[in-house]
Amino acid sequence: MRVVITGGAGFIGSHLVDRFLRDGHEVVAIDNLCTGAPANLDDAVENARLTFVRADATAGLPVQGHVDAVLHFASPASPVHYARLALETLAVNSTGTAHACDLAERTGARLIFASTSEIYGEPAVHPQPESYWGNVNPVGERACYDEGKRFGEALIATRVRLRALDGRIVRIFNTYGPRMAADDGRAIPNFIAQALAGRALTLYGDGSQTRSFTYIDDLVDGIARLTAHEQARGAIVNLGNPEEVTITAVAGTIAAAAGVALRVEHGPLPSDDPSRRKPDVTRARELLGWEPQTPLREGIERTLAWWRSTRSAGA
Ligand SMILES: NC(=O)c1ccc[n+]([C@@H]2O[C@H](COP(=O)([O-])OP(=O)(O)OC[C@H]3O[C@@H](n4cnc5c(N)ncnc54)[C@H](O)[C@@H]3O)[C@@H](O)[C@H]2O)c1
Repeated sequence: MRVVITGGAGFIGSHLVDRFLRDGHEVVAIDNLCTGAPANLDDAVENARLTFVRADATAGLPVQGHVDAVLHFASPASPVHYARLALETLAVNSTGTAHACDLAERTGARLIFASTSEIYGEPAVHPQPESYWGNVNPVGERACYDEGKRFGEALIATRVRLRALDGRIVRIFNTYGPRMAADDGRAIPNFIAQALAGRALTLYGDGSQTRSFTYIDDLVDGIARLTAHEQARGAIVNLGNPEEVTITAVAGTIAAAAGVALRVEHGPLPSDDPSRRKPDVTRARELLGWEPQTPLREGIERTLAWWRSTRSAGA
């Protein structure tokens, strides 16, 4: 297959690049490096089957020739980044998604769009199945991301309905692992950076809010299965770990894995921060035969090992 991956120098995108190269495919990675880093492609860059194109997906996808799959993953993803890049976030999920649809339609490729559990907002249904429409503030500080992704989904669903697009939507729940940037701002990299620096871990609110955390290898496996599926046109699939944990428990796991005593400080809860999050993964299980495999403690240990090795190498 020839696979185009937008956001290919980002956290998830670079792991997808590695996976598709490892599976023997040709990969075109497109990234404008607004939140990603070339170092994320260090393992892949020597591979002759990888082409890296530095470009803004909002301006169009500069790809010639045949394409079998387009994975549209370009978008700022952490609240810190999309607060700073709010208009860019709206643009890449709307105009950028339209360009991804155009490329897929023109070449007859499958399109996989990286949506998010954030489209469920502050959920009134728990756990969240794909049939749940969500409860989102359309004008709040997070709307650039939540509504940007909802627009991207609406565009793909409409083009699947009205045109020949083979579009597939993956709703990704919080994912973590090696290559998350230290300044990412999300809970796990924050806690790891603080624990290794011997600082108190910052819990926003009282720490009783829950999340489900998926290890990157499990997520990438689910995306690869959705991409390879012959009969998934129009599919919308949650990928996440149904094991629900409080943020306080995550902090405790990280402190224990890092071998430091747990010390916490509390900060104010960000606006529109959801209090509970847990995927219903029945569809992923039935359609893809997918189930997350990595327990939180094991994923944290692997992430910590990577963190220590890159920091000690001066990266
Ligand atoms: N990490 C998660 O837990 C999570 C959860 C839900 C959804 N997602 C989605 O997965 C995708 C990847 O997220 P991530 O965590 O790897 O974030 P990331 O910031 O590490 O990666 C995003 C990549 O997209 C690039 N990018 C952003 N705008 C671009 C543009 N206009 N043109 C070209 N490149 C652009 C960035 O430079 C970066 O390399 C995003 O679409 C995000 O919304 C991630």
